[in-house]
Amino acid sequence: MLILGIETSCDETAAAVVEDGYYMRSNVVASSIDLHIPYGGVVPEIAARNHIESILPVIGQALHEAHCRFEAIDAIAVTNGAGLGGSLLIGVLTARTLAIIHSRPLYAVNHVAAHVYANFINRTSLPDYTLPPSQPGFPLLAVIVSGGHSQLVLFYDHFDYTILGQTHDDAIGEAFDKVAKILGLPYPGGPSISKTARKGDANAFTFPKAKMDKYDFSFSGLKTAVLRLAQAQIGESYGFPSVKLSERLSEAQKRNIAASFQRVAVETVVDKVKLAYEEYAPKSVVLAGGVAANLELRRQLKDVIPPNINFPDIRLCTDNAAMVATLGYFQANLGQTKADPYTLSTVPNLSM
Ligand code: KG4
Ligand code: ZN
Repeated sequence: MLILGIETSCDETAAAVVEDGYYMRSNVVASSIDLHIPYGGVVPEIAARNHIESILPVIGQALHEAHCRFEAIDAIAVTNGAGLGGSLLIGVLTARTLAIIHSRPLYAVNHVAAHVYANFINRTSLPDYTLPPSQPGFPLLAVIVSGGHSQLVLFYDHFDYTILGQTHDDAIGEAFDKVAKILGLPYPGGPSISKTARKGDANAFTFPKAKMDKYDFSFSGLKTAVLRLAQAQIGESYGFPSVKLSERLSEAQKRNIAASFQRVAVETVVDKVKLAYEEYAPKSVVLAGGVAANLELRRQLKDVIPPNINFPDIRLCTDNAAMVATLGYFQANLGQTKADPYTLSTVPNLSM
């Protein structure tokens, strides 16, 4: 069964073809990130306008790379939430139109759940992907760490899960992005913090970890602690504007703050994963979302979880449509409700 996946929830216009929920035949991503860098974050209008220009060429490319014509596609899966309203709309309207004119079933996919399903891709005809040897088994502990979500979710089976805990304020990726801003590092913050942290001393500073209910998170206090520390490092008080901090911090200070922040942010997640692993003894543990690309997170997790953890290829951690097509396959194959192509709407604040 061939599924065409379409993803436009944020600043990546993506389309992919996945066969039978495991075999990735194409995975095309056109990012508008360069256009947002001057603004220090994604500008929704620019992202949406860019999706309009890119969506059809990206879908065409995904079919081309999969060596198939539209006639071979069995169903369409599209992200309808969570995400930016204008961005989601372009993907959803395109998918609805294609479903109507080609008479194909349409499935509405939850973006956050789709990140988990990136881990079910274990074969591809594309070069240079590192994929796990097999699909993860249930019960499955999903560590969801993205720009919009930080959640620990225990899946008993497909579509049967319980949320063990989640963030009460900022998502971990958001904390990376905000700390990068304080340090004057380019957007997106995750990759630029990890790059800067590589040459820093991760034990140079200690930051407090929020004391939350068992599996819940909070990252806004950590971000504020970084701000206060940066102000203190240059001998200024609480009132010193954060936008002026980076020009006064030395490169060594930036590297040490980045490394220490990253260590503490990652430890916060890993401590809870360890706890959940011991309590629920899941058959597999999977990482999902953009922060799953973080090498320090992968390193620390390897220390606490036995070898049954597989890390998705970096290109399947950040936003892509292969994960959408993969979850779409399971929705189609396991009898989940089809979307109505005449009425499917976007749900920007959709949660799991
Ligand atoms: O999953 P994603 O692409 O979009 C959302 O669904 O939110 O995640 C984007 C987030 C951003 O906050 C970005 O800074 C973070 O993932 N990120 C990273 C890394 N690469 C991307 N965070 C830490 N380390 C990385 N290497
Ligand atoms: Zn995402």
